[in-house]
Amino acid sequence: MEIAITGATGFLGVHLVRELLERNVSLTVLAHAGSGDAAGRLARFLQVTGASPRLVDDLPRRVSVVDVDVAEPFLGLSQAEFRRVADGVDAIWHSAAQTKLAGDLAELHHVNVDGTRNMLALAAAGGRRPRFYHVSTAFVAGLSPEPVVYEDQLDASRGFASPYERSKYAAEVAVRDWAAGSGRPVVVFRPSVLLSHRPPHPDLPSDTLEAVARFMLTIASMAVEGGLVDAEEPTVQTVRVVGDPRARWNVMAVEDAVRDMVRLAERPPAGTTTTYHIVSSRDLPVSLPIDLLESFLPVRVELVEHAPADPTPLERIIGMVPGFLMYLRHRHIFDDTRTRTALGERVAETLVDRDYLLSGLGIAELDLASDGLLNSELLTRALSAYDPTVQADPAARADADARTYPAARTDPAPRVESTQGWSNR
Ligand SMILES: NC(=O)c1ccc[n+]([C@@H]2O[C@H](COP(=O)([O-])OP(=O)(O)OC[C@H]3O[C@@H](n4cnc5c(N)ncnc54)[C@H](OP(=O)(O)O)[C@@H]3O)[C@@H](O)[C@H]2O)c1
Repeated sequence: MEIAITGATGFLGVHLVRELLERNVSLTVLAHAGSGDAAGRLARFLQVTGASPRLVDDLPRRVSVVDVDVAEPFLGLSQAEFRRVADGVDAIWHSAAQTKLAGDLAELHHVNVDGTRNMLALAAAGGRRPRFYHVSTAFVAGLSPEPVVYEDQLDASRGFASPYERSKYAAEVAVRDWAAGSGRPVVVFRPSVLLSHRPPHPDLPSDTLEAVARFMLTIASMAVEGGLVDAEEPTVQTVRVVGDPRARWNVMAVEDAVRDMVRLAERPPAGTTTTYHIVSSRDLPVSLPIDLLESFLPVRVELVEHAPADPTPLERIIGMVPGFLMYLRHRHIFDDTRTRTALGERVAETLVDRDYLLSGLGIAELDLASDGLLNSELLTRALSAYDPTVQADPAARADADARTYPAARTDPAPRVESTQGWSNR
């Protein structure tokens, strides 16, 4: 079976590639033209994450790379090359996207919506009528006032929390319209927030935790530069942030998500468009990310219903940095009845807790306890592992490896727990 996949070098994509390669398939990686050696990036990811040497050695035989720009007509390929790719595949996984939450809407639309339409055109052109698997997001539900979001629900009437959500919604509408118009079945996956327990590393794509760390660092450096926080002896300040103490986020270990997605893809589709929520059985209470924020910044966060009319300088700075704060009121529960009916009840699931988040940030609990000062220094150190200049210099890179994978590069293992009696729904 030959599968074309976009977004293979992204955070979700590398994990998807690994999961697909564990099956008896070959991949045509439709890599982002101009963004570097996709085959090399995939090989390094597999090595760093402890894939079997056989899988790494087999890569040149099982993976071919075609450079594309999904946002361009015919993916930026000649029409002959476009047709060659289309005719050579049995399935298409479309994971590529522009993922900046607060990015420019026109740019997001170009990559996420036009890009999806161009990928659907590839599916339409394929002589083998390849099945289309579209990676959407649970957050296409936007600002729906209903507490529970169902897998068949797709409604824009209440708007969206971010331009990213809006663009992903429009992409999903395009997929549904194509399926209805062509009669060709499509499968839509809607993951919630995906995370990794793996510490930052130059050979691993960054994930939401890196964005959270950068968010906290930006605030810390603006506060220190603006003289609002003394980096040497910070005193704790209360900051009022718009949010709901009952807020909750569904977050899921990326390995669990790709396992579910690939297993679901092996089933016959249930209709023209079959949508699956890819979510975990437990939500993170908002208190956990707030606790993390308070561990790294000298603040005590108070969630308030409305933005304060008299913001302090620090509150003004926090309000200026776009980021996950817009989700401090998020309370959706994503119903995954179709997914669970197809896969059966879970017997085990990766536990995403404070330790997991700290591991993904590249910071051990021990570091936190021993460093009484502004812990943003720890974040700087952890994030330097992503630095491309570290990648270019082998000595510095060895140093980064030693720092983030201390025990002879053993891949840290997250805790997997039985899900008996877990659900907080
Ligand atoms: N991560 C999550 O928590 C999460 C949750 C729900 C849904 N999703 C969805 O899952 C998918 C993958 O997300 P991700 O986290 O893996 O994103 P990511 O790390 O930002 O990766 C995006 C991928 O898309 C590629 N890409 C971007 N623009 C492209 C273009 N014009 N042409 C071809 N390729 C292009 C990138 O290539 P380069 O890196 O080489 O530029 C990269 O491989 C997205 O559809 C996202 O909406 C993600």
